[in-house]
Formats: sequence, structure tokens, C-alpha cells
Amino acid sequence: MLQINPDLTDLVADAAAGLLARLQSKATITAAAPGRVNLIGEHIDYCDGFVMPFAIDRYIVIGGCANGRSQARIATALGDEIVVLDLSKPQQVAEPKWANYIRGVIRGFQDRGHHIPGFDAFILSSVPGGAGLSSSAALELATATFLEGLLDTRLETREKALLCQKAEHDFAHVPCGIMDQFASAFGKTNRLVLIDCRTGEPELVPFENPDLTVLISNTMVHHELSDGGYAARRKNTEVGLARLGKASWRDVTSADVQGNWEKLGDPINRRSRHVVGEISRTIAAAAALARNDFEALGPLMAASHDSLRDDFEVSCKELDIMVEIGRKIGRHGGVIGARMTGGGFGGSTVTLCESRKASQIATTLAAEYEKATGIKPQIFASRPSQGAHLVD
Ligand code: GLA
Repeated sequence: MLQINPDLTDLVADAAAGLLARLQSKATITAAAPGRVNLIGEHIDYCDGFVMPFAIDRYIVIGGCANGRSQARIATALGDEIVVLDLSKPQQVAEPKWANYIRGVIRGFQDRGHHIPGFDAFILSSVPGGAGLSSSAALELATATFLEGLLDTRLETREKALLCQKAEHDFAHVPCGIMDQFASAFGKTNRLVLIDCRTGEPELVPFENPDLTVLISNTMVHHELSDGGYAARRKNTEVGLARLGKASWRDVTSADVQGNWEKLGDPINRRSRHVVGEISRTIAAAAALARNDFEALGPLMAASHDSLRDDFEVSCKELDIMVEIGRKIGRHGGVIGARMTGGGFGGSTVTLCESRKASQIATTLAAEYEKATGIKPQIFASRPSQGAHLVD
């Protein structure tokens, strides 16, 4: 029942073949950037919190080359369309929408004074789209890394991630935090990317216990952060912080939230309770993981999901069903913890489980989920993988 993750080497070969078939060009530069899954720390990257994602072994790959023109010609594995961008001008938001991630990243380089030479590119992806696994951050980071290759220049990793975040803000109009772009940029094999979002410091935390498997279950319920729910939640937290009269969520205690419950009003009080609770749960989870204390980790993941469902209201029926099935399998069935992952409103859940039972757990999750919803989910295991890079 477990889906196989396509090999990066095969994706690179497919990108070269696609470039040749669609644009009759030979790939001389290939960039790959992964999606991410978040173990815990949800909707607090824009609240100075801690988050604990990792780069998954699913990638967006761009194969391309300079074309001697002043235009970019971009084809993808998803359709017949070829998007042409005029590189002699600063990039602006335009149609088709998916190309705005690329336009936004090019604009970031242009704003830094780079002249972008014409190029041909073919894009393909093994990151499921709209599944809460940051396919958009992967596209941004793959584009930025491709441009580094094209311009023969290297940005500092943090600057590259922030350039990509700005592209998402300005060109996709999603006021996201830094988690996705940081995870895709800084990811390393066998390492979680624990980020202190107040300082913007990522710490690479070992995650190499072969007895642990992370299952990602895509509910196949589409998730579109630009719909407004995400921006509305972020606004709620800004209002909460202002009503509490604090400069940072890191200075807010749960007693502050309880003591100001009426003043905060509903739903701001519940949103605030989520932020403060999730920050302390993430700190506790990082400590539990460091001492291999899975009995502590599971309840923290469960509490995170409940808080996202009830207080932050970013879950949905299908995510709740998938998490519930994991809970029923329980600790003796090999499940350590389960929760929704990413922005929510659909998308995926993350299930931490014992490796020797992972395959059986995936089979049960898929069967029970389909029975309850009539939808076939997509379930795969993932290990922390290398972040955005140029492929030789
Ligand atoms: C999306 C955003 C991230 C983060 C998560 C929720 O993935 O892009 O910045 O806020 O939602 O944790």
C-alpha cells in the first residue's frame, strides 16, 4: 500500500528528456528542491515560535540551459503549455498562476541587480501539489537554485530562502512564515530542521533511528492557502498579540491568555491558546525526540492536532478521520503519534510509527480512510533528505 518515492536520478533524466522533447534543448543545468513535512509546530512560524519540519525525498526538478535570447521558455510535465517570460523587464504577477512562483523568484534576483539571460527549462515534480507538503516552496527553491546555476553565482542559504518567501508573499499573495522555504533550503539527509522563528536560526537535529518511520497520508482533499483562511488566521494572531499588549508570542504565557480570556474575545482567545500551547509543545517534542522518549512525543502530537482542529480551526473532516484511524491503531499497533501537517484546510497528515509495522499501518490507514470517505488516499514514507541543490 506504500507508494514508492521516485528516485531523484530518474527525475533528473526525465527532466532532460522533457527539455529535449518539448523545447529541443539540451539540459546543462539541473536544480532539485524538496517539499517538506512538519512533525510539530504548526501555524506558529509567523508567531516567533519553534517548528520542526524536514525536507522530504520528493522533489521539484528543473532541467534547462541558456538559450541566447532575452526570453525564458518554460514547459512542464503537467501540460502542453509553454510559458514565455520577457526577461528584459522586471517580472510582474500574471497568468498562468503557477508561473508566478517562477516570476517572483526571478524578480527577487532582478531586484538584487542581476540581469537574467534567456533560458529554456522543463519542470517536473514528485511533490504532490495542494497536499500541504510545500510544492510551492519547492518550486521557488528549485527556481532560485536553477538561477544560481545559470548566473554562476551562489546566494547565502538564508538569503535564498527569504527571497523565495518574498516571492510567495508578493506573487502568490500568501503571507506565509519561513518554515517551508527554510526546510526546502536547509534540509539535510537524516536531519530535522528545527527552526527558532524568532531568531530565524535553523538547527539541524539528527533523525536517523532506523526503527522510526514517518508516514505521510495525503487525504486528496485539495488545499489552497491563497483562499484566505491562512491570511485570516495570521491576522487573528496579530490581533491577539496586540490585545495582550506584548511584542512577541515568546513573551506570552498560558496564564496571560487565560487571564485575558474575555478581553481577547472569541475566536482570538482560542487562537491565542493554540499559539502559546503549540510553542511549548514543540519545545517539549524536540526534547523528547532528543532522548528517544516516544511515549512523551505521541501525546504532544495528539494535542497539537486537537488544538489545530478545535482552537485554530484549520483542520477538516478528512484530516480528522485520518488522524483518528492512526489513534485507533494506537501505540501497541506501532503508531507513536499522528497529526495534520502544514497549513491545513485539507492536505496531509503525518504519522510517526515503528518501522517494522509501517507497511501494515499504511494498509490500515488507506483501507479505513477509503471506507469512511470514499476517497483513495496517497500514502508514502519519507526520510529527511537533502535540501535544494544543483545536480551534477
Ligand atoms: C504553510 C505556510 C507556513 C506555515 C504552515 C503552517 O505551510 O507556508 O509558513 O505557516 O502553513 O504551519
